[in-house]
This record gives sequence, C-alpha cells and structure tokens, in this order.
Amino acid sequence: MLAVVLAEATTDSPIASGADTVVVGVFEGEDVAHEMPGGTLGALLDSGEARREFKRLAVTHADGTRVILIGLGNRAKLDGERARVAAAVAHGRAREIGASTLCWEVPHHVDDDVVEGLVQGTLLHAYRYERYKPSKASRRVGRLLLSAHHDVSEPVRVARIVTEAQNRARDLGNTPANDLAPSALAAYAEETAGRHGLGFSALDEEAIRGAGMGAFAAVAQGSVESARLIRLEYDGTSGEGPLIGLIGKAVTFDTGGISLKPAGTMHEMKFDMCGGAAVIEALAALAELQLPVRVLGLVGATENMPGGRAVKPGDIVRASDGTTIEVNNTDAEGRLVLADCIAQAKRDGAERLVDLATLTGGVVVALGSTYAGMMSNDDTWASEVEAAAEQSGELVWRMPLHREYAEMLKGRYAQIINSTTKREATALTAAEFLHNFAGEVPWAHLDIAGTAYDVRRPYFAHRGATGFGVRLLVELARAGAQPAGV
Ligand code: BES
Ligand code: MN
Ligand code: ZN
Repeated sequence: MLAVVLAEATTDSPIASGADTVVVGVFEGEDVAHEMPGGTLGALLDSGEARREFKRLAVTHADGTRVILIGLGNRAKLDGERARVAAAVAHGRAREIGASTLCWEVPHHVDDDVVEGLVQGTLLHAYRYERYKPSKASRRVGRLLLSAHHDVSEPVRVARIVTEAQNRARDLGNTPANDLAPSALAAYAEETAGRHGLGFSALDEEAIRGAGMGAFAAVAQGSVESARLIRLEYDGTSGEGPLIGLIGKAVTFDTGGISLKPAGTMHEMKFDMCGGAAVIEALAALAELQLPVRVLGLVGATENMPGGRAVKPGDIVRASDGTTIEVNNTDAEGRLVLADCIAQAKRDGAERLVDLATLTGGVVVALGSTYAGMMSNDDTWASEVEAAAEQSGELVWRMPLHREYAEMLKGRYAQIINSTTKREATALTAAEFLHNFAGEVPWAHLDIAGTAYDVRRPYFAHRGATGFGVRLLVELARAGAQPAGV
C-alpha cells in the first residue's frame, strides 16, 4: 500500500552517492554550498531561472546527474516544518521527472530537526493509498539518500521509523469500514504487537459489557460487528518512570446511530477511527525506537450503527466507574467509548493520560485543519504536550475547560447527559464529559476531528487520512524518556 521509499544517510557527496537526481538547497543571501563543475548552479541562479525564495525550483544537469535546485528562503526560518514542505515540493518534481534514487544535500549547519523534516516530507509526500486502485504510473522514487559531511544516520533512522508508522496510520484511516471492522483493527494491532514485541490483549463486545463498560457497550450494541477494546503495552524501562496512558477513539464507522447523520459527507466517517490508528502506530514506533518509556495504549473500537438493538436517545447507561449517563444523542458516541477507556487506563495505573479522538465538528469550525484542539486538567502536562506538538509540527491549540461547561452536562434522569440540547461549545462540553472520567489524573484530550484527514499541507499530496498524532506522541515520549535513553 505504501509507496515505499528507503531512506538512508550517507557521507558521500551527492554526486558520488550514485543517485540519479540530486537536490541542492540555496538560502537567501548565500550561494550553493558545493558548486558543480562548470559553475552550473551559480549560473542558473544568476540567470534568474533558479531562485532563493522558499520552494522555488529549477532543474538542470551537471556532472552527468540531474540536479533540482530549490530555494530554502531565510536560513533562520528553516525548521522541521519548512524542511518537510521543501522536501515534499522537491519530491513532487523528482517524481515528475522520473527520478528513482534521490539524494538531498543536507544544508550545512542545520540541526537534526531539519534532517528529520527532509525525510518526513519526502516519505509523507510519496505516500499513496493504492489498495483498491493501483496507480498505473511506473514513475516512483524508490530510494532517498541524505548526504552530509557529518553522520546523520541517527536522525534519518528516527524519521524513517516515525514516518513509516505515520503512513501506516494513514493506511488504516483510508481503509473503508467494510474492510476495517473492529475485529479487523484488533487483528491488525495483534500482528503489529507481534512484530514489535508489544504486549497485546483485546476484549470483545461480550467482555466489554461483562466488565461493566456500559457506555462503550451502548455504542457497540447497534452493530452486528463485535466491538473490541484493544490493549497494547510497551515498557522500554524495566519499570521506571510514569506510566503513560494513550487512549484512541476508533469508531470504525460513525453513522450517528439512531440520531442519524445526514448523508452528504457521512462517508467521511470511516475516518472516525484515526485516533485509535495513531495510538497503535505510535506504540509501534516507540517499540521500534526502543525508547525508555512505559506506555499503555487503549483503543476503543466499535461501529456506531442504527438498528433494532441500537441504543436510543433517552436510554440511561452505566459506565465502568459507576457514572450514570443519559444518552441524549447517539451521535455523541465517541465520548461514551472514551469514558470507559479512560476509566480503564486509570484502573491500570496510568499516571498521565492523552486521548486522541475525532470527537466534534465544533473543533473543525473553530480551528480548521491547522490545529487540533487540546483541553487539559493539568498545566504542566498540557505544556509538555504543547511542546511535543510544536516539535513535531502536529500542532495543538489549548482550549478551555470550565465548570460552566461541565454544568451544561448535568442530567435530569441520570448523573450526566452525553450531549447538550443547544449546540454551544460542543468541543468544550465534550472535553468536560471526558474530564468526569479522567478526574485528577493529568490528562490532555486532543480533538483531532479537523486534523485527521483532508489537511491542506504540501506534504499531504494524497488527501485523506494524515496519521495525525503519531509524530506528536513519539515526540512526547522522546521528551519524557528516562535519562540514559534517547
Ligand atoms: N465523529 C463525530 C465528529 C466529527 C465530525 C468528526 C466531523 C469529523 C468530522 C462525532 O462522533 C460526532 O458526531 N460529534 C457530534 C457531537 C454532537 C452530537 C454533540 C458533533 O460534533 O456534531
Ligand atoms: Mn458521532
Ligand atoms: Zn464519531
């Protein structure tokens, strides 16, 4: 499914690397670091055909090799995100002109973030979802080399592992619901766990109900597909450091249930499992990187369907922590699933929580596809998540929790309702709903409804699932890794 690009570091010069196409960047106010024989690159810049402005491209030949000269703009502004964008633009042209091995000349005096960004931007841009529609195009960049005077193999390795995980999360997101039922997602997670040495177990629907998870079970009961609570465990520390609980919403299809969604864009609700996909692939990446952290992943996988047995508006259910919930709106199903997953993570001893969920249309209205919404009960944990978001380029914008939002969820017949009658602050009341279950444990809720698919960034050439959250979660783990680690 992936357009696989092998990424490797080399200390050979780009020309000596054996690549058929070389990418050379040039900053404003500077000349190329290594001129080609005959002064080709300088001449191209002088003629105005090649430019130093960010993303400007020119193609030439020198020394028997194709050279893509790309403007990198202001040197001080080149960060991971600009590197991803530059790499995506260069890869697009490279593919167009039939490159098969591409070699980036890593600019001098840039840090590892830029090297990682170049790898990420290339691999993300090369991604295509071809499971049902194999592309006829034979043109494909098969290999990416990063050439630098010093050894960049470590940032290349890290970026390759993380981006491959992100692309696998995109595959999961793009897979239609008929081929990714909760049982199939659990089977995938089990296979992933086997490959990476993660602990794995799963509860089926009967076991979910049997464990008293009445909120999760209420969503699941409308579908003929059996739900799964997927558990993945990774310990790279032999027991030290806080246990981080990562919780993902994986509604493999959200029709809205009896509170049925309109038909127009309902097909997009195959993406309602993207939070869960990010959690599964983040754990896979952590294990592959052997990071010294302790992580528990819980993924709530179910369909949300209308049907003769489906939960009805007004039904009252009991979550596994004893909270009674009146289900006013069966389309506010994600929070029901997450409620029991969060309660379970706490019972399992998680000391920090992050949940990822395509939870509300409200967050899309507020933040579009640029930022995920973040709500948190703990300023320290929130700033750690914010820092990881900034570092990874998967941005979050903190939004408020407030007692008044919580009060809007007070129930008349049960302790709480799952949806307020007026469509006010839906992303925030959804977060307050979850807050009931997180309680005092440091917790950050990421509403990724706007960032999980159809994001306008140059490296997401393939619209559809973005794999949002994989990079952020890995950065969070890297930052929190115990000393002696990476
Ligand atoms: N999965 C949806 C949220 C969603 C909407 C994701 C648009 C991606 C794009 C969620 O289950 C949902 O239906 N939320 C409702 C909640 C409402 C009933 C309180 C919403 O936001 O409309
Ligand atoms: Mn819904
Ligand atoms: Zn949903």
